[in-house]
Amino acid sequence: MSAETLPANAPVFGYRHLLGIQGFSAEEISFLLDISNRYASALPQDLKKESILSGFTVINLFFETSTRTLTSFELAAKRLGADVINMQIAWSSIKKGETLIDTAMTLNAMHPDVLVVRHPDSGAVKLLSEKVNCCVMNGGDGSHEHPTQALLDALTILRRKGRLAGLKVAISGDIKHSRVARSNIYLLTTMGAQVRVIAPPTLLPAAIERLGVEAYTDMRAGLKDVDIVMMLRLQTERMQGSFVPSIREYFHFFGLDRDKLSLAKPDALVMHPGPMNRGVEIDSELADDIDRSAIREQVEMGVAVRMACLDVLTAPERSRRAQAR
Ligand code: CP
Repeated sequence: MSAETLPANAPVFGYRHLLGIQGFSAEEISFLLDISNRYASALPQDLKKESILSGFTVINLFFETSTRTLTSFELAAKRLGADVINMQIAWSSIKKGETLIDTAMTLNAMHPDVLVVRHPDSGAVKLLSEKVNCCVMNGGDGSHEHPTQALLDALTILRRKGRLAGLKVAISGDIKHSRVARSNIYLLTTMGAQVRVIAPPTLLPAAIERLGVEAYTDMRAGLKDVDIVMMLRLQTERMQGSFVPSIREYFHFFGLDRDKLSLAKPDALVMHPGPMNRGVEIDSELADDIDRSAIREQVEMGVAVRMACLDVLTAPERSRRAQAR
């Protein structure tokens, strides 16, 4: 099972890098979700036999902390048979003042096939992709985009609800600093979902409606009759100054609890990309309620989506190598 086994009439994915969701067509998103779903449905014994990336090297270059994205990219690449290196930034020459570009050029000289990059600056991953020969995948750049997170969120919704088009999705929390919110807005609006964003005025980007969403500063109004409630944490690492009066007040007005969730549809699904701050943006007991919360499933889908993206992006090089044999 890989992108190469799709029907001949499947759309071609004509991108060398995966930098963001913005600009992807509904067909391109569906293509990635279809392959992701195949990986998610595959039996563990089948996945262990995968070796389509045998002879390929994947380097994870994370300039910000990560649990889910880093681990699932490593697992996904290893399940496909790749050699994987996780760069230890704390032990790298970046600590001696080497720039992002010099670091990228140095790694490029070792001929990796894929670089997965997370960086605190919006646009840094795109800049890096212009300097190297290999595929670059964005593991999250500043408050710009986190494309594989949006894909895994969409796959989770699709598997639970059977569709994206027509669903009412509320994304609630620190919209201003969230790359997850941006990638999800691009993906969900392109796929025909109705997206609302909910946040205090201080955490809503100016003119967010231009992205095709409805903005709410009253969480109760924003949650009315939605199918999906996607919660976001306060991205304090990107904040300069204070954006909320107090955590206690924030939870009172913008924390998801059962009382506020009762305004959504009775079968509304609760989601969170993680890491969660329990008692800040979400009630702890609700987050763990497997009847309402898909948070663990989101993590599980992360591996499948990253396998699919690695598969699709390396397909041209795999085909080149096969012809050269
Ligand atoms: N959702 C997400 O990106 O989590 P990590 O920061 O743990 O990778």
